[in-house]
Amino acid sequence: MADIRGMTDWEQLKRLLENQDDDGKTMRIDEPALLEHLQARVKGQDTILKDVARLLRLQAAKQQKTRPIANLLFLGPTGTGKTELAKAIATFLFKEEKSMLRFDCSELNGAHSKDRLIGVPAGYVSSEQGGQLTRPVMASPRRLILFDEIEKAYPPVFDLFLQLMGEARLTEQGSGKAVDFSQTIIVLTSNAHAEQIGQIQREVTDYHDMVNSIKTYLAESKVFRPEIVGRIDRVYVFQPLSGMIIAEIALLKIAKLAEQYRLKVHFVAPELLLQALAANEKVSRFGIRELERILDEMLANQLLQAKDQGAREVALEANEAGEVIVVPSG
Ligand SMILES: Nc1ncnc2c1ncn2[C@@H]1O[C@H](COP(=O)(O)OP(=O)(O)OP(=O)(O)O)[C@@H](O)[C@H]1O
Ligand SMILES: [Mg+2]
Repeated sequence: MADIRGMTDWEQLKRLLENQDDDGKTMRIDEPALLEHLQARVKGQDTILKDVARLLRLQAAKQQKTRPIANLLFLGPTGTGKTELAKAIATFLFKEEKSMLRFDCSELNGAHSKDRLIGVPAGYVSSEQGGQLTRPVMASPRRLILFDEIEKAYPPVFDLFLQLMGEARLTEQGSGKAVDFSQTIIVLTSNAHAEQIGQIQREVTDYHDMVNSIKTYLAESKVFRPEIVGRIDRVYVFQPLSGMIIAEIALLKIAKLAEQYRLKVHFVAPELLLQALAANEKVSRFGIRELERILDEMLANQLLQAKDQGAREVALEANEAGEVIVVPSG
């Protein structure tokens, strides 16, 4: 029998195998499917969604071991979809919302916040437990990591951010294990200088010009250290939501509420939406955080009644007094 060792150039084969496109770490993203998923959840931020979908497709397919898939900075008023977009990305790419790790940097402002993230140094009690940032990533490396209000973080935590965004590698204190972040997406949010940023947002109408002006402003006003700004792939400025967009979000939330009672809604009277928007505006001058509660109060009781009467599909109508009428239709 011929010696198979002589049958091919094994060195070349080895090199070819090593350079194969798929090392199990790169990811092929279906951009239109991603965009559709994001658009179904996040309303009124289309320019951002399109750019995110494209950027993530291009970045995730790259083989790069020394940086995260993407480092993103989300700015803009409260309640405009920043966290919602982060969740939507995590759900699509990493299969479940739970794959997202979220840290509130206003809680990372003490001397021990670094230990919390990457573990307690060796020799201390609980140094075996590891860090709240490093352990989950060690266990499953495909994650979206959200740091809210980064401007409030304690300076040593900033150094961790730099390392995370620049090298995609953090070493756990205590265990000494190196943790690979090259399959994560890092999202930072900030409310620093919100007023000035809001003003630029109102004054500069072209989206790209506006983002550029804000980047210049961030750099000049030293809101963040320049190394941080330098490691961010994209700055996205979320737009305030208009009445029509809030109405759309209200519809999403109504569908979600009905779904919790295993009901489908196929029509909602505009008068009801208008009522919800008015109630929302009264209580939450900023954003739409109260909208869910308002809709719950308006609709939950009647939805459950309809359910108990055997309905599976309903229309939400309004009578002359503007009261909700739930009409079963299936
Ligand atoms: N653009 C949007 N599209 C769909 N839902 C939205 C949008 N903006 C906000 N919401 C809804 O409002 C709630 C709050 O939004 P979200 O948590 O995304 O706000 P945020 O921009 O992260 O605000 P903050 O700066 O206060 O963290 C969420 O429950 C979400 O469902
Ligand atoms: Mg948020």
